[in-house]
Amino acid sequence: MKVIIRDHESEAALWVADRIANAIKAKAKISDKPFVLGLPTGSTPLKVYAELVRKVKAGELSFKNVITFNMDEYVGLPVEHPESYHSFMYNNLFNHIDIPRENIHILDGNAPDLAAECASYEEKIAATGGFDLFLGGIGEDGHIAFNEPFSPLQSRTRVVTLTDDTIRVNSRFFGGDINLVPKQAMSVGVATVLGAKEVVIMAFGPKKARAIGEAIEGPITHKNTVSALQNHPDGIVVMDEDAAGELKVSSYKYFKAVEAAEMR
Ligand code: PGA
Repeated sequence: MKVIIRDHESEAALWVADRIANAIKAKAKISDKPFVLGLPTGSTPLKVYAELVRKVKAGELSFKNVITFNMDEYVGLPVEHPESYHSFMYNNLFNHIDIPRENIHILDGNAPDLAAECASYEEKIAATGGFDLFLGGIGEDGHIAFNEPFSPLQSRTRVVTLTDDTIRVNSRFFGGDINLVPKQAMSVGVATVLGAKEVVIMAFGPKKARAIGEAIEGPITHKNTVSALQNHPDGIVVMDEDAAGELKVSSYKYFKAVEAAEMR
């Protein structure tokens, strides 16, 4: 696992946006096949999305040959609800870039048959040949997508029940009222994410420090589903100093030294 630590979130977000842009351009140079990108919602990716939008508007990057799959969506929330992940993605990214609408995939939390919707999502992902890069955040409880503690590390896209912790954390988007937060969601599985050629997990702020410390230094465990990234051949965790606060000093120095050596 590679770990990138930057003083502030804004610098870490620029690093991530550059990584994504470079990966899209690198594939375009050697192949006509679309770049397949997994995307998260939440507070964490906002600065990355803003920078990707800037790059597209500046003519530095194009999403014309990019296919996206979002990692999750609430069950039962209308698509046009301001807190649906559909709304989030269009407002923060898709409405501002040149991605063809048919290349965008987001789980339908109002599908008549939710299990069939999940199965078809996995089929659509497989039909593309799989993810080139999956971008994600981490929950305060160590979740990746909505793979809450005790989700199987071999899980695939399915309906999940949110933990009380996640409902409480996400209630900030619903006027602080936990009763307005959907209790279920659909989410790609841990194995869906780890099937990507490259996985980039971002963590910003002190609230993520405990989960990040456990994911990186603890055992691989379903109690912290991001910890499964330890087994991925190309996993990167990008964080600010606040999120690095629970790493051991020796680990912190090691990651900084590796990065400095690779830049020489
Ligand atoms: P956040 O959520 O980006 O809003 O902190 C991350 C997550 O729950 O995975």
